[in-house]
Amino acid sequence: MVDIKNIVVIGSGLMGNGIAQVSLMAGYNVTMVDISQEILDKAVASIEGGLKKLETKGVLNAAENKSRLKASLDLSSAVKDADYIIEAVVEKMDVKKDIFKTCDENAPPHAIIASNTSTMSITEMASATKRADKCIGMHFFNPAPLMRLIEVIAGEKSSEESMEIGIKVSKSLPCLRGDRYVAKVLKDRPGFIVNRLNSPSGIYMSYLLDTCLEQGIPFESLDADFGSRGPMSPLVLSDYTGIDTGYHVRNYNAETLHEDFRPGKVITQMYNEGKLGRKTGQGFYDWSKGRPQPDFSKIKKAGLVDRGVFLAISMNEGCRILEEGIASGWKVIDDANMAGMNAPGPFEYGIKNWEGHVKKLEEFADKIGSEYLKPCDLFRSGKFVDMK
Ligand code: NAI
Repeated sequence: MVDIKNIVVIGSGLMGNGIAQVSLMAGYNVTMVDISQEILDKAVASIEGGLKKLETKGVLNAAENKSRLKASLDLSSAVKDADYIIEAVVEKMDVKKDIFKTCDENAPPHAIIASNTSTMSITEMASATKRADKCIGMHFFNPAPLMRLIEVIAGEKSSEESMEIGIKVSKSLPCLRGDRYVAKVLKDRPGFIVNRLNSPSGIYMSYLLDTCLEQGIPFESLDADFGSRGPMSPLVLSDYTGIDTGYHVRNYNAETLHEDFRPGKVITQMYNEGKLGRKTGQGFYDWSKGRPQPDFSKIKKAGLVDRGVFLAISMNEGCRILEEGIASGWKVIDDANMAGMNAPGPFEYGIKNWEGHVKKLEEFADKIGSEYLKPCDLFRSGKFVDMK
């Protein structure tokens, strides 16, 4: 197996930044690439700040780490000595394919090309190269230095050796909040494990939002149904990540998984009206004075949310993940969800009463007329119980 020394991180935004920092902390030489000097300067300053903070805690020597960091605007020359490349640019397939092609044409033959895409096909990116066996997915969770999970994804043509290298590099990257957890994703399917597991909850969420619209219930009342779990309630979080992001993800899932994922009336209307949340100042909430802090103890609940439905949806999707051969067992799915989302996966808790959850989902899917939410064969049969 090749000894990995030089890592190139392409795209120095939110994710690339964190990925470059943990790569430096693991002792690699790191080159960051982006399209403007201003963005690169900002990224370098932010990494320096992060390293200095860690130095004050006695974790590392900031100057030594910084001495292994380079920044470049020229992708072709930046990858000339690369052993391992991590692409973290915008979530657009044509841009990612262009980058894979340029890397393939300029990097040494042994170099691995990995993508940090959240959901898109590694196989398609690899098709832009002549080294599909050396292309893999390497999906971090935000922020990369703090979230424990990295999913390492096999494209259709990825070699076992490339996967092993990807897993080895992933395990070598420190995490500031506990041990790294590396999940091997055996099949290149949209959303991989964790994003896939959580995506059909969006079908239920769209249904709930559209019900609020029809019945004239304020959206904050729906948010109140969830209460204050974690740092942000679901609708504050949707505003924070961007209504446009949710809209695009739902459409991508509709095109690649099932039509039932299409955004509902509320999300489509908000998208069309430019009510995108934090970035435009208005979404479900008003962001003009900073992050909204709804006081749920004072807001009337909508009384629409059934948490059991969320659990059943999640177990069903986990079973689809197993059925499609994406993960080797339900423990990996549960552990990956905990490491990537700070939330327990559905199986450990739900397995005891799995028949009840199947029945609940069956009734719910019929009620809202969703084909996709119907329990899949593996869930219905209970055979997943032994697929730990
Ligand atoms: P971002 O918008 O913060 O950063 C993207 C960076 O790529 C920007 O600095 C942009 O200038 C640069 N870029 C665009 N085209 C380029 C090119 N041709 N060459 C070099 N640099 C280029 O985006 P973010 O959030 O960091 O996402 C990057 C990737 O990571 C996406 O594929 C996204 O789906 C994925 N991802 C995002 C997560 C998140 O929570 N934001 C979590 C996990 C994965």
